[in-house]
Amino acid sequence: MTEYVYLNGEYIESDKAVIPIRTHAFLYGTSVFEGIRAYYNADEDQMYAFRVKEHYQRLLASAKVMWMESPYTLDEYIQITKDLLKKNAYKTDAYIRPTLFKSSIKVGPTLTDNEDSFLIFTTPFGNYFGTDSGLKLCVSNWRRTSDNAIPPRAKVSGAYANSALIKTDAHEAGFDDAVVLSESGEVTEGSAMNIFLVINGVLTTTNTTNDILIGVTRNTVIELAHELGIPVKERSIDRTELYNADEIFCCGTGAQIVPVESVDHRIIGDGKTGEITRKIQNLYYDVVRGKSEKFKEWCLPVYD
Ligand SMILES: Cc1ncc(COP(=O)(O)O)c(C=O)c1O
Repeated sequence: MTEYVYLNGEYIESDKAVIPIRTHAFLYGTSVFEGIRAYYNADEDQMYAFRVKEHYQRLLASAKVMWMESPYTLDEYIQITKDLLKKNAYKTDAYIRPTLFKSSIKVGPTLTDNEDSFLIFTTPFGNYFGTDSGLKLCVSNWRRTSDNAIPPRAKVSGAYANSALIKTDAHEAGFDDAVVLSESGEVTEGSAMNIFLVINGVLTTTNTTNDILIGVTRNTVIELAHELGIPVKERSIDRTELYNADEIFCCGTGAQIVPVESVDHRIIGDGKTGEITRKIQNLYYDVVRGKSEKFKEWCLPVYD
């Protein structure tokens, strides 16, 4: 079946979508993007795109940091996304990748006097991690870029060289992923996911000012914890708190809610999915498929 993408204001066949090799974003990593999931609910024969509005709000915030002028409004982005998904007519879970990029053909890194273009592609998508058990993490010997270098708060493609090094070196050392520390030595997040620890019954996560991408899933988890009556604390986290946490899980659009089995070979809790992690996971997977009336406003139905 033909798969469509959206580029330069048009829905076109995926293999016909090309950009020139001197495009600024390709030369300098000057694009901002989002990763959004859409979940297929077979009982309803409906596709629900999850928290699309919040993702595009973050895209616009990233664009502002990068001197980009958005060609569309928030509502237009949402409509384009819905229309593209409808055209691609998946009956399976999917991933949506909108990208706003510096599209002038020019050499030199300056962001101003440089055009902005927009594209979206979508693809069928299953689990991000190929493991059913918990993740084996290490603490990376790379550091997260700081807010005064390449701000992690903005989802800038060039910054993913940092994630690529973190993830690849963790893999090569036999781990599934890594926890990254900030320049000042505090826990930030994984290569492409946020992190939660359960410490004495309190769901604990990093501050939004600890050099993290402020995840849509992170914010969702906090709201679901409130719904479940689980106390939440946002604060700085030290490396060794990881080793002694009762439970740890990571979360992100790609990762979803994934338990952590060990960090630096120290088993977390009893090494199995903890009770609080399980509760959050169960509610999350119901919510994203539009099975919770209370949180249905987060789910954008694609098919009329
Ligand atoms: C560096 C980084 N942190 C955290 C996240 C999780 O963000 P979200 O929950 O919005 O997908 C991502 C997701 O792509 C990421 O790349």
